[in-house]
Amino acid sequence: MSQSEQAGQGDRASVEALAQPAIQQLRAYDPGHDLIALRRQFDDLIELGANESPYGASQLALAAARSAIEDLHRYPDPLGGDLKRALADAFGLETAQIALGNGSHELLMLLGQVFTGPTAALACARHSFAVYALSAMATGAPIQWADANPREHAMPCGHDLDALLSVIDDRTRLVCLANPNNPTGTWLTREELRDFLARVPGHAIVVVDEAYREYQDEPEAASAVGLMSEFPRLAVTGTFSKAHGLAGLRVGYLLAQPPVIGLIERLRESFNVNSVGMAAAQAAFADRTHLDHVRQENAREREALAQGLRERGLFVFPSRTNFLLVEFGPHCAALEQRLVDCGVVLRPMGGYGLGDCLRITVGTADENRLLLETLDVLMPQVASAS
Ligand SMILES: Cc1ncc(COP(=O)(O)O)c(C=O)c1O
Repeated sequence: MSQSEQAGQGDRASVEALAQPAIQQLRAYDPGHDLIALRRQFDDLIELGANESPYGASQLALAAARSAIEDLHRYPDPLGGDLKRALADAFGLETAQIALGNGSHELLMLLGQVFTGPTAALACARHSFAVYALSAMATGAPIQWADANPREHAMPCGHDLDALLSVIDDRTRLVCLANPNNPTGTWLTREELRDFLARVPGHAIVVVDEAYREYQDEPEAASAVGLMSEFPRLAVTGTFSKAHGLAGLRVGYLLAQPPVIGLIERLRESFNVNSVGMAAAQAAFADRTHLDHVRQENAREREALAQGLRERGLFVFPSRTNFLLVEFGPHCAALEQRLVDCGVVLRPMGGYGLGDCLRITVGTADENRLLLETLDVLMPQVASAS
C-alpha cells in the first residue's frame, strides 16, 4: 500500500469516527453492476437487471420533458401543484394528502427519518425491498424482521402477514411492505391487506409500496389507496420509474393523511423533484394509451418468458410485476457472472437472502429470446465446470 493510500485509510477511519453511530454502521445501497462501463464494452448490452420499462416513456411525456427543458434556468415548482392535482383527481384524494419525491426511494428514506430512531422500530419482511431496512439503519432504528412464506407456498418467499403482525410490538413505528413485492414478484389481495391493517396497532404507520401497482391484473382493485379512508395510519407510495418508463427522471409520490404528509414536507429538500421530471410525469400519467400498451405487452412477454424458463426446468416464482424471480440452484453465481461476460445483465439476489435465484426484468420479445438462447449455451457449461 502506498504512503498516500495509507494516509487516506487513516483519514477515513478518523472521519468515520466523527459520523453518527447509525451512519457508521450503514452500507450504501448496492446498485448492482457498473452499467455505464458495461454499455461501453457491449454495443448490444441486454439490460434486464433494474426493472425498467423496455417500452420507454410515452411520446406525450417526452414532448412535455422537451418543452420543460426550455425553462431549465428556473427552479421547479416547490409545491408540485400541477402533478399533485393530477394525482389527487385520479386517486380521489386532496392535494394535502400527497408528497412528491425524487423517486419513491427518497420518500421511503424520509419516512424512516420521520418515524424511526434508536427507540422507534421498523418492521418489514425478509426478501422485501432493501430500502426499507436502509431507512431504519440510517436512523439507528431496530429492524423487526418477519419471516416470509416458505418456498413451497402459493406465494413463495412472499409476505406472510401473520408473521409480520407477530414482530410488531410497542416499539414499532413504521411497517413497510410492497405489493406486489420486489424481488419476489408475489402479491397480496386487498382483502388480505384490509384484514392485516385492521390488526396493526395505532402507534405504527403502515406503508404499502406500490411501485409495481400498474402491472397488477386490476391495479385499482388491488391497490391499497382505496383503504386509506378506512385506515388513517396507512400510507401508499407509487413511482413513475416502472410502468411509466421515467426511471431516469426520478419522480415518486406518497399518498397519506395530511398530518403524515405535513411531517414529510418539513424534512424534504424544497426543490426535491426536478421540473422536467414533474412535467413528464404529469403527461405520462394522462397517457392511458401508452400505459395500457405497456401493461399488455408486459403481461404477454412475462408469460412467454416464464414459459420458456419453465421449459428449461427452472422454477419461476409467480409474478404480477415486470420481472420474474427464477431459481437457478447452486451454480447461480457462476452463471450470473458468465451472463455478464456475454453482455446480459440480470440481478443477483444474494443480498436478498436468495443466492440461488436471479431476478429477470421482462424485456422485449427479442431481449427475452436472446436471454433464453444465452442460457441454453451457458447453463450446461456452468453445470459441467463445477
Ligand atoms: C418495491 C420498490 N419500491 C420502490 C422502488 C424505488 O423506485 P424509485 O425510487 O425509482 O421510485 C423500487 C425500485 O426498484 C422498488 O422495486
